[in-house]
Amino acid sequence: MKQLADNRAESSNGFEPKIVGFFCNWCTYLAADLAGTSRLHYAPNVRVVRVMCSGRVDPQFVLEAFAKGADGVLIGGCHPGDCHYQEGNYKALRRYVLLRRLLEQLGVEPGRFRLEWISASEGERLRAVINEMVEQVRALGPFRGFNRLPVKLAQLHGQKECSKEPASVETVEL
Ligand code: FES
Repeated sequence: MKQLADNRAESSNGFEPKIVGFFCNWCTYLAADLAGTSRLHYAPNVRVVRVMCSGRVDPQFVLEAFAKGADGVLIGGCHPGDCHYQEGNYKALRRYVLLRRLLEQLGVEPGRFRLEWISASEGERLRAVINEMVEQVRALGPFRGFNRLPVKLAQLHGQKECSKEPASVETVEL
């Protein structure tokens, strides 16, 4: 937390993105471990949640991460053909494509949500992906919540506006 606070002070606009990383136990999580033991420096903005397979990431997890204050979500899984549960990563990919479209409808910029295949030996790639995503989300600024939802609902109901207030989003410390 102290390191995050230091970085916050260094940041030009004072904003340090909070990114939730759902990492597969068998590949991306091990890549993060490798990056650590190899002393590869990468942005400390990712809070890692270890899952047994990228296919285990329920869309609800992603929506909840954003609703609870994440500025970005990164899913890391095994390369196609390498999933320990055979097709879990294909399932993750199908969900990702659909969820990305839904999130765009809810006002979440594409740069805030990413799926990457990173194997256990790719510590360097993990570092590059994390650094790139942190820069991308930093440029987008803090996530303000699913604030287009009232407009979309209003359109469905043929009204100008459903609510003058944007949908409130509960924000908690991650
Ligand atoms: S076990 Fe890694 S993505 Fe399925």
